[in-house]
Amino acid sequence: MSLSKIEIITNMSKLTKLKKALSDAGVTGMTVIQVLGCGIEKGAFEYALDENEEMELLPKQQINLVVKTEDVPRIVELVKQELYTGHIGDGKIFVYKIDNAIRVRTGDEGLDALSH
Ligand SMILES: Nc1ncnc2c1ncn2[C@@H]1O[C@H](COP(=O)(O)OP(=O)(O)OP(=O)(O)O)[C@@H](O)[C@H]1O
Ligand SMILES: [Mg+2]
Repeated sequence: MSLSKIEIITNMSKLTKLKKALSDAGVTGMTVIQVLGCGIEKGAFEYALDENEEMELLPKQQINLVVKTEDVPRIVELVKQELYTGHIGDGKIFVYKIDNAIRVRTGDEGLDALSH
């Protein structure tokens, strides 16, 4: 059974709601990292895009989830629903294949490392 990592980068204001939705959806763990980032608008708040302007890095939250690969579409759909406002900066989702997960206490690997 393969595992994938879902990396979500969004604003602090969306984190509480997202955390609850993910927990309700059965996600068994998450890592949240405070990061600096910008997307296509280079950190500008409006579509006043100046190609020569320097990138401005804004504080963002990165939420990392490791899940069963078959659950990725369902969770991505949920995250999209929770983050969507239709405005720039709603967030970005990256999906990766991962090789393994190991629970140190038991030696469980793969999917077993994620569940009871
Ligand atoms: N190409 C990228 N590579 C790495 N990280 C990125 C990339 N694009 C966006 N990010 C990260 O995702 C965060 C959120 O991006 P954001 O939602 O602004 O994406 P966007 O492509 O600019 O879309 P929008 O036009 O809706 O704002 C950024 O602050 C940055 O941390
Ligand atoms: Mg953006």
